[in-house]
Amino acid sequence: MRAQIRSAPRVETPAATPSLEPADAPAILVLEDEQQVRDLLAAMLTIRGLVCDKASSIADARRLSAGKHHDLLLVDETLPDGSGLAFAQEETLGSPLVVLITGSHDFQTAVRALRNGAVDFITKPFTVGDVLRRLDTAVEKWKSRQQLQGQARALETLVKTTADELSRSFRQIDEVRDRAVLALGAALNLKDHETADHCSRVSENSIALGRILSLSEFELQNLKWGAFLHDIGKIGIPEHILLKQGALTAEERATMEKHPLMGYELLRNIDFLAQASDVVLSHHVGSSVPFGVEDFGGSGRDRGPGRIAI
Ligand SMILES: [Fe+2]
Ligand SMILES: [Fe+2]
Repeated sequence: MRAQIRSAPRVETPAATPSLEPADAPAILVLEDEQQVRDLLAAMLTIRGLVCDKASSIADARRLSAGKHHDLLLVDETLPDGSGLAFAQEETLGSPLVVLITGSHDFQTAVRALRNGAVDFITKPFTVGDVLRRLDTAVEKWKSRQQLQGQARALETLVKTTADELSRSFRQIDEVRDRAVLALGAALNLKDHETADHCSRVSENSIALGRILSLSEFELQNLKWGAFLHDIGKIGIPEHILLKQGALTAEERATMEKHPLMGYELLRNIDFLAQASDVVLSHHVGSSVPFGVEDFGGSGRDRGPGRIAI
């Protein structure tokens, strides 16, 4: 497309604008087939302290854009090898800001360009002042976009950092809770030295069953703790009953049968063990083996890995 440039562009003494630091300046590509217009636009950019790459065809522009991202494109709509606007919208360019250069009577193209994402348009013939104003507007839009993108990146980093910290905190809390559960189990082991292996086995078997039943991680965690502490109520059973080798009397058995409830009472007020305490309360409920027989049949000792009703 032939540009109708006035022989001596009217310089409207543009307001002095401080030169942009290189780091603050957008990378600009001028895509214009007419050399005079192309050079004039490049010269106007220089007035604003901006530099640009120049291309005379879409093929040239593709070559330049292959090795460098351009933030702002000044593109002629009608080029020898296609539509400048169509080129500017190619995905590989990474959504640059686009100022379309159109002929004076091609108003429809300008409207279409704005509807299709161009930030502005320059109609030929143009004046220096008009181009500089539009350049200033485009650079301001680029700066705003940079600022927003910077804020979005900062926000993303903050969210990720906070999520990482939260995740780390949750892991630490879980570790502390695991240690607390182990400490409670160790307390029972002090009284009945042979319970530790039993509690671990019951816990492991329960988790294996829980996984088969597709329990959630939350349910598995509570099952693990509840199963490990299922006999914690035995801390409250007198040793002459708990450790008795012979058969329990009816009265002793009645005392022994209180250990699920005692364990439940012990744990239910500890926040993180509230759900696990239900496992403790019900660990003899529903067993195919009547209560007392499994745990205490013939003796006061609880032996029988995997035979409790969890
Ligand atoms: Fe048990
Ligand atoms: Fe038990």
